[in-house]
Amino acid sequence: MTTVCITGGTGLIGQKLSQMLVSKGYRVIILSRNSKAANGAISYAAWNPDTGAIDNSVITASDYIIHLAGAGVAEKRWTKKRKQEIVNSRVLSSALLVKALKETTNHVKAVISSSAIGWYGPDAATAKPFVETDAPFDDFLGTTCLQWEQSIEPVSALGIRLVKLRTGIVLSNEGGALKEFKKPLKFGLATILGSGKQMISWIHIDDICRMYMHAIENEIMNGVYNGVAPKPVSNKELTLALAKKMRGNGFITVPVPAFALKIALGEMSIEVLKSTTVSASKIQNTGFQFLYPSLDAALNELIA
Ligand SMILES: NC(=O)c1ccc[n+]([C@@H]2O[C@H](COP(=O)([O-])OP(=O)(O)OC[C@H]3O[C@@H](n4cnc5c(N)ncnc54)[C@H](OP(=O)(O)O)[C@@H]3O)[C@@H](O)[C@H]2O)c1
Repeated sequence: MTTVCITGGTGLIGQKLSQMLVSKGYRVIILSRNSKAANGAISYAAWNPDTGAIDNSVITASDYIIHLAGAGVAEKRWTKKRKQEIVNSRVLSSALLVKALKETTNHVKAVISSSAIGWYGPDAATAKPFVETDAPFDDFLGTTCLQWEQSIEPVSALGIRLVKLRTGIVLSNEGGALKEFKKPLKFGLATILGSGKQMISWIHIDDICRMYMHAIENEIMNGVYNGVAPKPVSNKELTLALAKKMRGNGFITVPVPAFALKIALGEMSIEVLKSTTVSASKIQNTGFQFLYPSLDAALNELIA
């Protein structure tokens, strides 16, 4: 049975991806900091990037590794300590994987690592979508993504195929951004953040999981690919489309000014207010077909 190891596979993407892999006949081993009982074809193994501990038998058993581990970027306010956790959890976990791959006899065919569209800066006035060859932006997320991608790069020097998916804003009912967008709508409030004109490069949870599987199965894939849907939308478009799906006409629009977001979120507000239009052309050119290319299709599935 083809075995896929997923680091951080207990999270939003990892849980759905594990189910999809199992339904396609793969065996999944999740590397987690917390042990758990096996569940059918999904089992768990221990590691801890902070202490450098890892169950090397997982590396020996794996055909593919999907690297998702990392402290939640939007979970807590960006204090100096939290920023360090966000970077360390990614860089130290990559380094531990690389060390285990070097020191353990293995037959790993490919490592597929997460990265994020935080790599890119704000849209330029010319509004050309960002492509994979664009340089990282010089802010906290840009430099975090750069360190993250560099930390996993030694995998290539080991002769193992390496794919990095610069993931957009994942839309899922189980957590992440959509849950936050839905909260005020429960009270009939459609909150437009800042000008509302900032572009959001989103992706449906099923499509990002299918993209990880596509990267496993397509040996021609190598290097960086953007993990976003082909039709980004503005914050206002997303909020109003969601409001109509959830409440029909039963909502009022409430603008939340940028300064209020800055007070509430601190430095993280920059990300909420930033416009980032990212191209999906490179992944589409590998033959990847989106199930949910438009926001309407995604919300029709998510807001049943
Ligand atoms: N969801 C999105 O919208 C989105 C967008 C762009 C990029 N991404 C990236 O894609 C990856 C997966 O996303 P996700 O939404 O599934 O993330 P998630 O739900 O936050 O799960 C990530 C997993 O990483 C592990 N983890 C957390 N803190 C850690 C630490 N300090 N050290 C080592 N491991 C730690 C946890 O697993 P254990 O507790 O089991 O160890 C957790 O379940 C993340 O790296 C994320 O940054 C996600």
